[in-house]
Amino acid sequence: MSAATEAESTRKAIRHSIAVIPGDGIGTEVVPAALQVLDPLMSRHGIQVDWVEYPWGSEYYRANGRMMAEDGLEQLVQHDAIFFGAVGAPGIPDNLTLWGLLIPIRRTFEQYVNLRPVRYVPGVPSPLKNPEGIDLIIVRENVEGEYSQVGGRFGIGDAEAAVQEAVFTRAGVTRIAAYAAELARGRRGQLTSATKSNGIIHTMPFWDEVVAEVVARTPGVKLRTVLVDALAAALVLRPQQFDVIVASNLFGDILSDLAAGCIGSIGLAASANINPERKYPSMFEPVHGSAPDIAGRGWANPLAQMSTASLMLDHLGHPGAAAELTAAVDGVLRHGPRTPDLGGTATTKDVTKAVLDHLSSSTPTRSTR
Ligand code: NAD
Ligand code: IPM
Ligand code: MN
Repeated sequence: MSAATEAESTRKAIRHSIAVIPGDGIGTEVVPAALQVLDPLMSRHGIQVDWVEYPWGSEYYRANGRMMAEDGLEQLVQHDAIFFGAVGAPGIPDNLTLWGLLIPIRRTFEQYVNLRPVRYVPGVPSPLKNPEGIDLIIVRENVEGEYSQVGGRFGIGDAEAAVQEAVFTRAGVTRIAAYAAELARGRRGQLTSATKSNGIIHTMPFWDEVVAEVVARTPGVKLRTVLVDALAAALVLRPQQFDVIVASNLFGDILSDLAAGCIGSIGLAASANINPERKYPSMFEPVHGSAPDIAGRGWANPLAQMSTASLMLDHLGHPGAAAELTAAVDGVLRHGPRTPDLGGTATTKDVTKAVLDHLSSSTPTRSTR
């Protein structure tokens, strides 16, 4: 038994309350699949959990004129974590659905770190010639930057215009850079910062300056500042060169889908919206969206949602259970079955069953007394 699992097994009466928001589209398919896997795994590790499901999302909006209950955030703050699927539905503007649910949660609960690990598992079909060894993590600033509410539309007809201000604060850039630098220190001691200070003349030079100041105070970490356009190409051509990448809200968003494509599918990419101070619950959701193009067919890849669950277990203090789940996901990735996004013909159910089989055949990590 590893030290981690031993510590977990000796801890008595662990009970978590976790909010579950499947949301829209394939969120309602992959979240139940992940819960199906989490239930036996958590019970084997002696982790008791109360799942509290909230029916919030676009259907709820159609019925109630809002994306979540009026006191939704007060309800969510009671939980230890939030397990989220995806939101977004054809027919309702995306800015309305996302700013009505996902983004208020990230902001109200000060989830300013968005962790997006990307690791290639050998055997998975990838569009790259040489994907072996990709193992990086994008640390995305999650509550400010380009995603600001400052701006508006004005003028009429041909004179109509829209203005959107990007807001970067010293406190905001400092805390995300410090988090990323600390993470880099525990890994390869190498941090890449995504910038665009050649074309964006105010915010990006400020970002560069603050990141450099923070990293200079973190011994053992070497900083490389790379223009985001060149970084996009380098991620495809030489992804193994990168370890921890720190990026603004928008750049981190785009780079994380790009990196997920490099390991074979966006259906594999996990993500965690973290409030490092633990003042509020953190939220765990995959990188992908509601995928309306495949929703309802039963083909969605549930592995991103399951890897997201693994990040949640880790955050809640269960590294042994998290590692077991990661190993089971890796096993299925290596040997199949695979959903169509990975070139296979398997369904969400087939893949879920395969993960469950891997879990039940893994060495028991908890002794019975
Ligand atoms: P998307 O991530 O939903 O889908 C992009 C492509 O990847 C689609 O072809 C889709 O079929 C495929 N894909 C995504 N996840 C997959 C999975 N698990 N298995 C197999 N294939 C998968 O992005 P989009 O199409 O740009 O956006 C759809 C909606 O989702 C929009 O409303 C968007 O705003 C929303 N969205 C929400 C979130 C979120 O809630 N966190 C994230 C991204 C996009
Ligand atoms: C993500 C998504 C969201 C984001 C959208 C849906 C607002 O793309 O989490 O990657 O850009 O943050
Ligand atoms: Mn995105």
